[in-house]
Amino acid sequence: WQSSSLPQLDHIDRSDEEGGGEIDWDNLGFGLTPTDYMYVMRCSAEDGGGFARGELRRYGNIELSPSSGVLNYAQGLFEGMKAYRRPEQQAGGYTLFRPEENARRMQHGAARMCMPAPSVEQFVDAVKQTVLANKRWVPPQGKGALYLRPLLMGSGPILGLAPAPEYTFLVYAAPVGNYFKEGLAPINLVVDDEFHRAMPGGTGGVKTIANYAPVLRAQMDAKSKGFTDVLYLDSVHKRYLEEVSSCNVFVVKGGVVATPATRGTILPGITRKSVIELAGDRGYKVEERLVSIDDLIDADEVFCTGTAVVVAPVSTVTYRGQRHEFRTGPDTLSQELYTTLTSIQMGVAEDSKGWTV
Ligand code: COI
Repeated sequence: WQSSSLPQLDHIDRSDEEGGGEIDWDNLGFGLTPTDYMYVMRCSAEDGGGFARGELRRYGNIELSPSSGVLNYAQGLFEGMKAYRRPEQQAGGYTLFRPEENARRMQHGAARMCMPAPSVEQFVDAVKQTVLANKRWVPPQGKGALYLRPLLMGSGPILGLAPAPEYTFLVYAAPVGNYFKEGLAPINLVVDDEFHRAMPGGTGGVKTIANYAPVLRAQMDAKSKGFTDVLYLDSVHKRYLEEVSSCNVFVVKGGVVATPATRGTILPGITRKSVIELAGDRGYKVEERLVSIDDLIDADEVFCTGTAVVVAPVSTVTYRGQRHEFRTGPDTLSQELYTTLTSIQMGVAEDSKGWTV
């Protein structure tokens, strides 16, 4: 897309100078580096119940009623996306990865949470505007990405339990590197069979903000014991894999790749969906089904996928005190998928699937 598609806001510094010299691009983790602008769009009964025109604003605090739906009843959704800086040899610019998928996932989640949602066009346009207004914060090629965080929240006041009378859609951005402190090194998971992430009939399958704080207890306990993160089991049988706190999980055995099917408790990840296609292209049989803890223990390889984590190899999983090891390294499927996916996302490989914008 072109900068000229942005509204002409004279106060926006559109310089492409990377981070204005304020940032150490070689040591980006997944911390919050505030950027310059955010996009805000509101929707209320006065607007006819739909989202009207949004605008770019200086990144900063927002004002919320103490009785807003999001603060009191967690009526909120978020998305995660990344913009990459394209190689100069290919005329530069930036790429987004399958942004319409995030827009549609937000619409699906909004229906579950009784919220209005922006149209796909409004969503994608807002994300593009946010990237272009913050382009000096898009890391140099190979050093990371500009993480985009679209939020949708019940911002209007409500006391009795009901949908809020007003909604805010907001997109902010932050430059990021690797998600886990291990960087690209394999991670060590622990299976928690006390805490669960989701339940049948609940909201595990949509990206509501309420899915995330409840895993913090298990995640903090795991980190205090030296694990990278937690792998959750289903809440009914306590036997089938669900997700890791912030990503989907895959197991590989021979030529078969399996991942938990999205039947309401699993987030339909966009990286998950892309990896399923890429593994199939490589001749693997890909199964979306119930994946038991025994399947995992028996696997050759285990990996996680997500926008933030990309494709993360798992070297060990500890279950009921037993540590199970898996293959990692250069000849693994996860390594191949990581390279293929990030090359498409960064614009260094041909995007034959038309995934990038
Ligand atoms: C993402 O991968 O973008 C997510 O939304 C997960 C989040 C907990 C970092």
